[in-house]
Amino acid sequence: MRLGKPFPIWDKGSMNAAEVGPSRQTVRLSELIGALSKALDLTEGVAFGHALRSCLIGMRMAAVMGLGDEVRSALFYALLLKDSGCSSNAAMVQEMFLTDDLSAKHDLKMTDWTKPLQAVRYGLMVAGRGGGLMARVRRLAALAPGGLAPAKQLVAVRCTRGAEIVHMMSFPNQTAEAIRSLDEHWDGRGYPDGLKGEQIPLLARIACLSQTVEVFRASAGPDAALAMARRRSGTWFDPALVKVLLDVAKEDEFWRLLDADRPVVMAAVSTLEPAEMAYIADSDRIDKVALAFAQIIDAKSPYTYRHSEGVAKYAVAIAQELDFSPAQVREMQLAGLLHDIGKLGVPNMILDKAGPLTAEERDVVRRHPRYSCEILSEVEAFSGLADVAAVHHERIDGKGYYRGVALSDYPAAHRTLPVADIYEALTANRPYREAMSQEAAVSLLRRDAGTGVCPHALGALEAALEKGEVA
Ligand SMILES: [Fe+2]
Ligand SMILES: [Fe+2]
Repeated sequence: MRLGKPFPIWDKGSMNAAEVGPSRQTVRLSELIGALSKALDLTEGVAFGHALRSCLIGMRMAAVMGLGDEVRSALFYALLLKDSGCSSNAAMVQEMFLTDDLSAKHDLKMTDWTKPLQAVRYGLMVAGRGGGLMARVRRLAALAPGGLAPAKQLVAVRCTRGAEIVHMMSFPNQTAEAIRSLDEHWDGRGYPDGLKGEQIPLLARIACLSQTVEVFRASAGPDAALAMARRRSGTWFDPALVKVLLDVAKEDEFWRLLDADRPVVMAAVSTLEPAEMAYIADSDRIDKVALAFAQIIDAKSPYTYRHSEGVAKYAVAIAQELDFSPAQVREMQLAGLLHDIGKLGVPNMILDKAGPLTAEERDVVRRHPRYSCEILSEVEAFSGLADVAAVHHERIDGKGYYRGVALSDYPAAHRTLPVADIYEALTANRPYREAMSQEAAVSLLRRDAGTGVCPHALGALEAALEKGEVA
């Protein structure tokens, strides 16, 4: 197939990539995971800092219990990554309840769904939300024949996938097991395996109590959180752990830190990783974490399946064609994998919508590059990556979003990613259209070259496609 020559509008000299990635300094793994945990908070519909604050609670309990360094290290990352599987069931939640998955998940965290009355009240509140009482009753009635089976399925998908993702990042088994059993309850009525008492891994019991206390503290305050812990002691939670929590709760410093702003919390969390076991995020580890998060991002919607990996593949092909250095090529791969991390904050009702978006829905979608930028900016060494991700929906003529800046003023790395992003999206199935052929996608991009996308980056993509370096 002939796709034509690159557009010679910019010479290659203007296509030197600025350094965008983490090659310039050492990254601590706790800093990287702490920052990315913000993306998991987005997906769960909870306040930013939820995972970090859950980590403060669980690690303080672990210290009081005298747990050893190795166990505390496993717990530390289990608490930060406990929601790694959360995007895998987002589309299911939306489909099941016909409502915004983010708010449905938030409300579920405030519900004791093992109690029939609370489960029905929750179902009535979220099922078909916005559709009037009768519509909600109808939706709930449609779900009723399945009993608790759908809920079990939702939890099983989330926990199993979360454990797999943590394995992908090379964390120890104890961390993965804590995440897999996060929703097991002391009385055996939890999910996915109905484990009971000490059958449930200790770290999972600590994480379950910590995350629930944090959700109630954030929504209703410390007294409500402690009342909930006492009420659910022996049903949801290990009574011995509730006692530890009640002791820890007497410390003023404990609540002061939980109430602090996110940067203060982040700094406090960074001191909690056992020093002897502290991980440095070398390039191999960073690659694994980026690939794992790309899968978390892509799992959010059936229509973005492998999008981030695809964008990374095309961005690398363009970068190689343009003679970026090996370090810059790798940086483009990271930018491709993580550019849409902010999409975890877009409800599936909007992401998977088959019809045209309303103005309000479009605004929500347009926020995602800003979220990507904010999340990646929290890792000091990723500030360049954050800037590349921030502009991946900008255009050469300045009519893109969210900043509305002219991409022609930006370095090559910033102009490469939008071409890779649009090409991958055009050649993938979407709710509102079938995937385009390679030829059709390139021809559409060519029509936009010089006003929408960078002609030189597009030319490089065409050359790579023509040589068969990517497909
Ligand atoms: Fe995007
Ligand atoms: Fe994208």
